[in-house]
Amino acid sequence: MQALLQQIENYKAEIAATNAITVDEVEAFRIKYLGTNGLVKTVMGEMKNVPNENKKKFGQILNDFKIFVQEKYNNLKESTSDTTLKTDDSFDWSLPGNPAVVGTRHPLSLVRNQIVSIFQKLGFAVAEGPEVEDDWHNFGAMNLPEDHPARDMQDTFYVNQNPSWLLRTHTSSVQARIMENEKPPIRVICPGRVYRNETISARAHCFFHQVEGLYIDENVSFADLKQTLYFFVQEMFGKDVKVRFRPSYFPFTEPSAEMDISCLICESKGCNVCKHTGWVEILGSGMVHPKVLENFGIDSNKYTGFAFGMGVERITQLKYRVNDLRLYSQNDVRFLKQFTGVV
Ligand code: PHE
Repeated sequence: MQALLQQIENYKAEIAATNAITVDEVEAFRIKYLGTNGLVKTVMGEMKNVPNENKKKFGQILNDFKIFVQEKYNNLKESTSDTTLKTDDSFDWSLPGNPAVVGTRHPLSLVRNQIVSIFQKLGFAVAEGPEVEDDWHNFGAMNLPEDHPARDMQDTFYVNQNPSWLLRTHTSSVQARIMENEKPPIRVICPGRVYRNETISARAHCFFHQVEGLYIDENVSFADLKQTLYFFVQEMFGKDVKVRFRPSYFPFTEPSAEMDISCLICESKGCNVCKHTGWVEILGSGMVHPKVLENFGIDSNKYTGFAFGMGVERITQLKYRVNDLRLYSQNDVRFLKQFTGVV
């Protein structure tokens, strides 16, 4: 017993004097003293030879010894990593660090956010609706009965499992959902993704994005529609851009108009984007058709409204000169990182 205590003291002295510098030396220390066949284990093994009346006292001593070795090991480990770093001349501490790469917002998200915030300034609320729709909200309620020729304007993806479900072809379906649930006055914009069965090319894709607008109240006029969209264009593209309305046709608006802006790519000199006309169409619009209002029990003698739907890809193309629609969905970082820092 006395001999064992003496031995522990000797080990302690030996351990205290150990000076491990390299990582390998520290590891050797660990194996020698703390490993599965290490000294601490061996000394602990002596416990079984200690007479019962001394077990408690001796257990305490062994435990302290173990802690002592563990602490020494921790100290060695810490100072080793320090010395390695300080003495390693091969590392140039003045080198600049590797900056963390910060992601960017997708250009379509950037432009959508810009569009949304412009209309928020005018008091429009934001609403969203489902991308998988039923026939009624996408077509029927919007005054396109089943045999209406205007359904041909949009090649539709139908859902195999249930032919009355489809991928919405326009965000006008959200208009239907809003009128279904809310009473006028309604002043809302609906950003979202839409789908059409188009062959994918630089100019067409099977999905794209729209922002729909709907404003219904008493005495809403076509002048309100024009003024709202003028404001939007000026905020989005600046004061110099020119605007024109062309009569058009949509089954859910009457009268209907498409809005063009002067081509920002060629400054109206003529290019592929404006098909050498100097003008680019950015949205469809019109006064909400009385039948659409009546579909939702809104009294069309009391209330009038306007609606519009714009293409986010087209606006992004004009703003950032993106000339191939496919770039938006290819996830090529060389394309995406050009929008770093744009808010
Ligand atoms: N839904 C039409 C389209 O996708 C755009 C539109 C919306 C036109 C609202 C008029 C009013 O082409």
